[in-house]
Amino acid sequence: MPAIVIIGAQWGDEGKGKVTDALGGRSDMVVRYQGGNNAGHTVVTPAGEKFALRLIPSGILTARTTVIGNGVVVDPAALAEELGELDARGIDTSGLVISANAHLVMPHHRALDKVTERFLGKAKIGTTGRGIGPAYGDKIARIGIRMQDLLDEKILREKIEAALQEKNQVLVKLYNRKALSIDETFTEYLRFGDALRHRIIDTGLLINRALDVGQLVVFEGSQATMLDVDHGTYPFVTSSNATAGGASVGAGIGPKRLDRIIGIVKAYTTRVGSGPFPTELFDASADYLRKTGGEYGVVTGRERRCGWFDSVVARYANRVNGLTDFVLTKLDVLTSLDRVPICVAYDVDGERCEEMPMTQTEFHHAQPIYEYLDGWWENLSTARTFADLPVNARAYVERLEELVGVQISAVGVGPGREQTLVRHELI
Ligand code: GDP
Ligand code: IMO
Ligand code: MG
Repeated sequence: MPAIVIIGAQWGDEGKGKVTDALGGRSDMVVRYQGGNNAGHTVVTPAGEKFALRLIPSGILTARTTVIGNGVVVDPAALAEELGELDARGIDTSGLVISANAHLVMPHHRALDKVTERFLGKAKIGTTGRGIGPAYGDKIARIGIRMQDLLDEKILREKIEAALQEKNQVLVKLYNRKALSIDETFTEYLRFGDALRHRIIDTGLLINRALDVGQLVVFEGSQATMLDVDHGTYPFVTSSNATAGGASVGAGIGPKRLDRIIGIVKAYTTRVGSGPFPTELFDASADYLRKTGGEYGVVTGRERRCGWFDSVVARYANRVNGLTDFVLTKLDVLTSLDRVPICVAYDVDGERCEEMPMTQTEFHHAQPIYEYLDGWWENLSTARTFADLPVNARAYVERLEELVGVQISAVGVGPGREQTLVRHELI
């Protein structure tokens, strides 16, 4: 079972970092293939140490080699900061390599992300402000600057000049901002190039060779299915393919090489930023989930919007990603509810909908249809096998499994590495 993909099945923050970390110790390589430092992946080690990874794969704590693939956008300033934090905490970062084809997040991308959001006003996406959308935009427009450009002083200068000649006009004339200095940007990025030179390699070749000899490679997704630029709630999405196909494109391996595709799904739902969210709660239950689940953004500290489990979304995630398994996280957070609601379908303008509606307008109109299961009061965090769970908690998991049509292979009952109840081995 050499290639395992970890995918967010909802709107992000499902616990992908924790699952990657749990598998990382048994894997040879952990690869990030899309997104950038908009991700925030939390890992709690057995010693109780908490890490918040953003751009660097969570596998840095466990795997021998960690890879930032060609599909990622890299902000070298953020990378330097994250490497510094890990070094200071005694984590060996020497095994981290970066694709020569990965695109760079530049200062003008960060600036444009912020001003365009401000101009959108009430229609804003609620981005993380990290320049992710503008960086991917330039990649697709074929005017991006890549990691390999850091290695050639002349090309780097030319590309920065070309980019800033255009982007400064936009920043100054359209948005009334200050122009960015070509010289300062060039000097800064040249310095990043020097610091990162030894890490820039052909990662596609490295990953394919690892798979050729049967090594175990974990592909760590960031963001999630409903934030995917093609399959999510467009335009309230991120600017990359967070679904399973993105792993193949963003790492440089053929799609047939992916053996297992694991969807990570929370026992309830959260979302950060704007956009439709049918099961969202606005009453005391939302505060309860937010407080009990610690639902505050890792990157921006924003409060996460909270709602009940949505099986329409989970079924859709299965369809779009071709999941082999689900890992259900945060079941412990649902303890002490009298009844636990599960959204089984939507009412869209009077019609029952079991599948994701085709248009955004219909999705905006979707009203959740709930089924209610009896709750439980026992603390789940000390459970170590599925059989340790109270019968109502087990019934909740089994009902979700029935509704989503894919086996739930593991259940999370706390943030710790050991707080995962394995029902079917993932490796
Ligand atoms: P990611 O972006 O998908 O990696 O998820 P985040 O790290 O942003 O958010 C998930 C949060 O839930 C983190 O604080 C994790 O430590 C925590 N977490 C993960 N699994 C569980 C679980 O089963 N129970 C509880 N209580 N917390 C969990
Ligand atoms: P992880 O990997 C949750 C959301 C932002 C915003 C939208 C676009 O930790 O699950 P962007 O900065 O990407 O252009 O913002 O996507 N978003 C996330 N929400 N978890 C994430 O990552 C996210 N990354 C981006 O809040 O709504
Ligand atoms: Mg997160």
